[in-house]
Amino acid sequence: MSAIAPDIKVRPKDRKEGHPHPYLHGNFYPVFEETIGDEGIECEVIGKIPESLRGSQYVRTGPNSLHVADDGVPHHFFDGEGMLHGVYFEPGNEDEPIRARYMNRWVRSEIFKKANKYGRMNLTLGLVMAGADIFWGVLLWHFWYRLKAAFFKVKNFGNGNTALAFFGSRLLALNEGGKPIETSVPSLNTTGEYFFEEEEEEYGEKKEEDKNTLEKKIKESTPEVCTAHPKIDPKTGEFIFFSYRFTYPFMYYSVVAADGKHIVWQEPIKSLKKSIMMHDFAITPSYSIIMGVPLFISTKHKKEGKPVISFDPKSPTRFGIIPRYYDSTKDEIIWFNSRACHIFHTANAWEEKDEDGKVIAVCLTACRSERFISDINLWQPTNTGGYGGGKTQKEYEREYSAPGSGSYATQDPDAAYMTLFRFDFKTRETQITTLSTASSEFPIINFNRYMQPDLRYVFGATIAPSSPGVAVKFNGIIKTDIQAVLKRRQELLSSGLAENEGGEGCWELGAKELKRIEEQTGQIHIFGPHIYAGEALFVPNSPREDGKELEEDDGHLLVYVYDERQMENGLAKANKQVTELWIFDAKNIGQDIEPVAKVRIPRRVPYGFHGLHVTREQIQANKDMLERRNRHH
Ligand SMILES: [Fe+2]
Repeated sequence: MSAIAPDIKVRPKDRKEGHPHPYLHGNFYPVFEETIGDEGIECEVIGKIPESLRGSQYVRTGPNSLHVADDGVPHHFFDGEGMLHGVYFEPGNEDEPIRARYMNRWVRSEIFKKANKYGRMNLTLGLVMAGADIFWGVLLWHFWYRLKAAFFKVKNFGNGNTALAFFGSRLLALNEGGKPIETSVPSLNTTGEYFFEEEEEEYGEKKEEDKNTLEKKIKESTPEVCTAHPKIDPKTGEFIFFSYRFTYPFMYYSVVAADGKHIVWQEPIKSLKKSIMMHDFAITPSYSIIMGVPLFISTKHKKEGKPVISFDPKSPTRFGIIPRYYDSTKDEIIWFNSRACHIFHTANAWEEKDEDGKVIAVCLTACRSERFISDINLWQPTNTGGYGGGKTQKEYEREYSAPGSGSYATQDPDAAYMTLFRFDFKTRETQITTLSTASSEFPIINFNRYMQPDLRYVFGATIAPSSPGVAVKFNGIIKTDIQAVLKRRQELLSSGLAENEGGEGCWELGAKELKRIEEQTGQIHIFGPHIYAGEALFVPNSPREDGKELEEDDGHLLVYVYDERQMENGLAKANKQVTELWIFDAKNIGQDIEPVAKVRIPRRVPYGFHGLHVTREQIQANKDMLERRNRHH
């Protein structure tokens, strides 16, 4: 069963047709009903759920507006309170097929609870972006919300709508605007906030504060914010994150040990001179890589008629290589420049060493766009009744050249290509090589192999062809063999044949060569017309019984898919709809290869962002932690 929970005071408007905003239209529209109780609803399973999933849970978050923007009011893809959608694979009896239960919960963060009671508490990104057009109006709104939030003593603006992590025996719902929200598994109930130091009692004595008082004060007044994409070192268990803000210092960097103790706490990145929006970063065993994409936040943009947050194609993208245990009073950050590009998500990062074990280069793989993907920025209503800000009709009709040739200027600026960035410590040069001709995002790897130089596969969600004013959607999964490309790159570099026509630092294989490798090694599955999905999460198989090591792609890909034929005029035809969780064998991706199992969820799961696989052991650890805490109180 599901219903609107008794604590939800806000009610959705009755709609005759879909919302006019592209990111509230169709399956982007929020759902208001949640499953009742902690058990969720049993789902029909077609095929056989792999044994590696027994007793574990797949959870995905995404924006699900509590206060849906009225027609004509700016809204952004990234706006909306977080809602978690989970499929729990019951432990059951080992000799019986695995059963699946679906549950969904709004992340009941502080800001959510107060907004539910007293109305909206913060400015949406849609309104911030629209600031160039209706500057004074937005400024007034901003002050009104600031006042309101201050009156209702809102301390944490984190709404958990972006991504998930498991750390300190808890599932954390993350959003780069605030603190992580702690969630129980598998019930998905919000159990509090978590910003590490509050566990001091459990984790032992607090580290002696040896900094001077001023620095201590600065640190204490630093807003408690954590990126939505922290990195957990698979070897040390360390939790590494940054946070950005609008005033100097524009970024802070932290490392928390596996046991919850601070190692590096809120160190300011002083050499960052402008406020930037940085969504993701990467780590290697000795370094962290921050990405200064030229996506600047400034009220000065208004004068140029640009949104408050704007991509500047004339500024370079800067990559900062930070020692893992950074101390801002001693250590230096090595900055590398590259031609302007935008990166949402990174896939992997590693170090290249010489014979003496000295690091000579740091490498990063990430999805690169020539600019901030413009159709993500459909936020503002236009005079003609549509929502502008995206790619123009003219740009849609243009013929673009194939990536990999180095002629960046003629490539689709809104496509995202898997790319290698190599930062050479000796020459201080950034080398760029395109690794895939397919436009894809949400790069996923076998996370047990994170930071390994020989990591071979990256799984991505293919970006569907679009049309003006329509939201970005994902229509398939792609598996890229990056080692095949890197091997060929090395051969070409040794023989001096790699193209460099894209400008300084571009070491491209050439479109033809890249295409040839892809045809030999690439694996792709496009869902078919009307069917869209998102991030496909890799879950490794259980250890083999014969003790042999698992291969990198021994595992499955999990992805929610939705058939849009259940929509009419952008509105769900019936209240109860079906979303399926498709489970693919990651070893074998192909157009004609069906998923090994489909979990039929008798509900609509709106399109969202990132997911996480919570293991059986992690679910137990969470139960134990909550029990300990309940006993304590
Ligand atoms: Fe993300």
